[in-house]
Amino acid sequence: MKTAKTYALLGNPVAHSLSPLMHNAAYTRMGIGARYVALCPNDIGEAVRLLRGGDIAGASVTIPFKVSMMEYLDHIDEGARQIGAVNTVCRRDGRFTGHNTDWQGFVADLKARMDIGGKRFVVVGAGGAARAVVYGLLREKGLPVVVNKTAEKAAGLAAEFGCSWLPFEEIGAVLGDCLVNTTPVGMFPNMEASPVPKEILPRFRHAVDIVYNPIRTKLLQEAEAAGCVTHTGLGMFVGQGAEQIRLWTGMEPPLDVMKCAVTERLGRL
Ligand code: ATR
Repeated sequence: MKTAKTYALLGNPVAHSLSPLMHNAAYTRMGIGARYVALCPNDIGEAVRLLRGGDIAGASVTIPFKVSMMEYLDHIDEGARQIGAVNTVCRRDGRFTGHNTDWQGFVADLKARMDIGGKRFVVVGAGGAARAVVYGLLREKGLPVVVNKTAEKAAGLAAEFGCSWLPFEEIGAVLGDCLVNTTPVGMFPNMEASPVPKEILPRFRHAVDIVYNPIRTKLLQEAEAAGCVTHTGLGMFVGQGAEQIRLWTGMEPPLDVMKCAVTERLGRL
């Protein structure tokens, strides 16, 4: 008999992560008997050594290990290498391979809702999440403009990926088809904050927030009031998890079940 597979989340802290709930809901629906557990190591190198000796079939990687994990893997795929962060580890024939499914989750969800090619995206933030978003947009022939409080970081990211950037003070003058927030501004418990002044929102047809707790952030509420089509961070979160399941199992995950599980829990928080 084939033994059930175990997948792990590696992060610190992980107690409030919605990934175990989302993945386990998917595995139950898929009837594959797999399970997904949250692990909270202090030392990621030591955790990987333990995982190599055990029977973990794959892992999700989250804050603060997305960058440091890279030095402990046997191979890193092209996307994760360019983004500079790994959120997924696959074990194949004893080898650990690093992937980044954040950009795929972002692109898959957005593509279903709007054309990306040739459109101008104002990306707020220049951290790891922004790198995944910019990488995904460029793959789809979108035109990102990076705007960040620390201008040097925006300039560095833009130079590396070959796209435009602007200092945050000039956000009032920028035009685009879609605004994308990649910063944590507006995330629980600071739900009254928005990363951009609401006066600029009528300039955009679409607004995306990658923050998904709360689902309707202050930015999305203001964008909706300004007439934008809004896209919540739930799509990217579910999409990155779905791509992990495709990588690990080769099967198509039940997106609706995953989305329901997360929405229900967020509604109760
Ligand atoms: P992540 O991996 O989630 O992207 P990160 O690498 O720490 O996290 O990056 C967070 C991004 O959000 C940064 O671009 C940061 O701006 P700075 O580069 O100027 O620090 C941005 N950010 C965080 N808090 C912010 C705030 N209160 N206002 C504006 N930008 C903020």
